[in-house]
Amino acid sequence: MPGLGQELYRKARKRIPGGTQLLSKRPEMLLPEQWPTYYSRASGSQIWDLDGNRYVDMSYSGIGSCILGYADPDVDAAVHAAIDTGSMSTLNCAEEVDLADLLCEIHPWAEMVRYARGGGDAMAVAVRIARAHTRRDKVAFCGYHGWHDWYLAANVGSNNALGDHLLPGLAPNGVPRQLAGTAFPFHYNRIDELKAIVQVHGKELAAIVMEPIRNQLPQDGFLQEVREIANRNGSVLIFDEVTSAWRLNSGGAHLIYGVSPDIAVFAKAISNGYPMAAIIGTGTVMQAAQQSFISSTYWTERIGPAAALATIKKHRVRNVSARLLSTGKKIQAAWQSAAEQTGLALTVSGIPPLAHFSLHAEDAQAARTLFTQLMLERGFLASNAFYATYAQSDEDIEQYSAAVMEAFRELAQATETDTVKKLLKGPVAHVGFFRLT
Ligand SMILES: Cc1ncc(COP(=O)(O)O)c(C=O)c1O
Repeated sequence: MPGLGQELYRKARKRIPGGTQLLSKRPEMLLPEQWPTYYSRASGSQIWDLDGNRYVDMSYSGIGSCILGYADPDVDAAVHAAIDTGSMSTLNCAEEVDLADLLCEIHPWAEMVRYARGGGDAMAVAVRIARAHTRRDKVAFCGYHGWHDWYLAANVGSNNALGDHLLPGLAPNGVPRQLAGTAFPFHYNRIDELKAIVQVHGKELAAIVMEPIRNQLPQDGFLQEVREIANRNGSVLIFDEVTSAWRLNSGGAHLIYGVSPDIAVFAKAISNGYPMAAIIGTGTVMQAAQQSFISSTYWTERIGPAAALATIKKHRVRNVSARLLSTGKKIQAAWQSAAEQTGLALTVSGIPPLAHFSLHAEDAQAARTLFTQLMLERGFLASNAFYATYAQSDEDIEQYSAAVMEAFRELAQATETDTVKKLLKGPVAHVGFFRLT
């Protein structure tokens, strides 16, 4: 089965340290030595690999970026228009002002907007603004926020402070050791942990950074209490909506909970696969962006804002989040029912548009790897996470659910007979960050 993709990847590992530009796209994270790895074409819910094999993508959908589906015709038309009229020039593009207006209309608490092109970069901008505004250095945070120094500083001298925040083992080599003791993690729904950080670092805390929602629902009053703590402590509350936004509603997920941050950050799904990120905030806090040098050439190009305007427009007109919710619920139900019918022990979690399951097996990671292998054989890109898109059809959902049933049946048998590893055609997938040898 391993074809041209694996052949190219072997070459890539010699040329590109770590093999890929994003940890989540390493084939070792999905199905080592088997994963198709590279694509030749992507359209709607489908991807073709270098050998011309076609798969329905029921996994990460461009790692959460292509919320409308691949090569969406409406977004692509806006992008083509931006290209045809010049995507870059010495002057600025008007679309960035239109987009700022639109984002502030959707989020009425926000008054000003800056842009970047990646999620982690935009989060670094947000933290810089918070530090400039408060003239403080330290940050309390919950969840994953990218690759930048301010965040990885949490692992300097501790190595696993970030272990519970999506990706274990993020190595902070190259991050100045002097940044040790500047970033402090707390767990979602653990207000006591945030309070403990505030008690120790109180008036040095520039920002509280978190996703308003991700794998768990907020407990009653949790987000409100975080807001109150930030107010009392004079810290900037930053909601990282890089992954959570546009899934449950046409905007930031925080709108649903009625808790407004001082800054919210969008990327990924805001522009359906084209590089774009927005940092929105209250006028008072955002003005601090003028007291710090935050400036980059490609943050001015036209494709990103044009794609974002088209994506948001379609998202609102088509009520995309309602479709994502219904698809996610069907997928979660399909996992649950297939598990019950085949006797496989698993737990389903996550908001429906960003659904997950975890297998309860002796070697759960080997079992998850075998699931990916069995699904690939059936024409699906699949893992234990499912990111819903508007392009996944009812037929995709039905065929995927049927394939899950077959795969779970084989998996249940393999777990019972202790043959999971024997059935794997390659090594077990990695969990978290590893240096590739
Ligand atoms: C919540 C959150 N913040 C930040 C990032 C980083 O975004 P990017 O990979 O675009 O730098 C991610 C990416 O997964 C994310 O999920």
